[in-house]
Amino acid sequence: MKKVIVTGGTGYIGSHVIVDLVQKGYKPVILDNLSNSEKSVLDGIEKIIDQKVQFAEIDICNKEGVLDFFRTHNDCVGVIHFAALKSVGESVDHPLKYYQNNITGLVNILEGMKANAIHNLIFSSSCTVYGEPDALPVTELSPIKPATSPYGHTKQIGEEIIQSYINSNPDAKAISLRYFNPIGAHESAHIGELPKGVPSNLMPYITQTAIGLRECLSVFGDDYKTHDGTAVRDYIHVCDLADAHTMALEKIIKASNQEAHSIYNLGVGTGYSVMDVIHSFERSTSQKLNYKIASRRAGDVSAIYADNTKVTDELGWIARFSLDDMTASAWKWEKSLRNRK
Ligand code: NAD
Ligand code: WQD
Repeated sequence: MKKVIVTGGTGYIGSHVIVDLVQKGYKPVILDNLSNSEKSVLDGIEKIIDQKVQFAEIDICNKEGVLDFFRTHNDCVGVIHFAALKSVGESVDHPLKYYQNNITGLVNILEGMKANAIHNLIFSSSCTVYGEPDALPVTELSPIKPATSPYGHTKQIGEEIIQSYINSNPDAKAISLRYFNPIGAHESAHIGELPKGVPSNLMPYITQTAIGLRECLSVFGDDYKTHDGTAVRDYIHVCDLADAHTMALEKIIKASNQEAHSIYNLGVGTGYSVMDVIHSFERSTSQKLNYKIASRRAGDVSAIYADNTKVTDELGWIARFSLDDMTASAWKWEKSLRNRK
């Protein structure tokens, strides 16, 4: 069975990828410091896959800890690197925390790979690297704009560090996946997103409002040049995103990726507005959502969605889930979370 190191494997996206990997015959080993996840996520994962998953509580900034872990698991076929801090707003207030965690952490992961001749890396990048795009949809060749937050900057720097590493190491290969807006949860509702405090992202804010934890959703801006004035994003079901990771891993193991460092947009390719998401939520859950129009949120781009031709052509990936599937599964997860508490 092919072993894979998964950093950040108890996080939102990581947990869904763990399930997908196991269901496709891989043996993931998780490394996470639980700074933004809980150990109980493992229970949810294990309920779905009906087996135990190996977990180690390690901070990726602890170089010795990382090297030790990689030495123990030097028979792995590759590494999927999710572990990072991801709050855009927090990164503006605490930039050094983000550079320290996301950059030092990545360098330590690459050190662990190099020392143990583990050659294959899948890296979580983000559509945030494109900033406010000049043309839509964005392709992988669209210009990288100056980052609008230290968080976004860590993703740009991360891709560059990986490129430099690959340039210096003929055996090394990487795939950077630029995610658009992952939402939704596993159909079982055993795993999903666990936002800490007041959510800043749209989907958890919607479900927390509908369940009564928040009074009202603020729709940030209705004066954008979009079909209904609200901002447009490319929402992707987290299980579709998970599927793409396993496909990327298979491709990199078979060494069939064309470039040593391939970059793929991971979005469905359709732009939905904030109001489209609200309408989808109301339609798929039969819940009425309390919302009001508010002013624009600083730093938001008006519209972005992916040209996903490259990931479709080269990985054979296609999105299976609709926006209504995404909003319905997010609601099912929110209800299961509240029943537990
Ligand atoms: P998440 O916060 O749910 O998961 C990240 C996991 O990494 C958490 O379990 C956290 O405890 C762990 N982690 C953070 N710092 C660590 C450290 N120093 N050592 C060990 N573990 C650490 O986030 P997510 O939404 O699952 O995102 C996963 C990855 O995808 C991140 O790299 C994120 O930047 C990227 N990404 C996320 C989105 C999104 O909208 N969710 C979009 C684009 C890219
Ligand atoms: C989506 C839309 C908001 C909350 C962020 C990061 C990005 C990437 C994905 C990691 C926007 C609107 C939101 C609310 C609202 N993450 N909104 N009311 O900003 O597209 O992307 O997550 O790499 O880097 O910036 O996602 O979910 O915050 O917002 O109207 O209460 O919903 O203005 O138009 P965003 P989001």
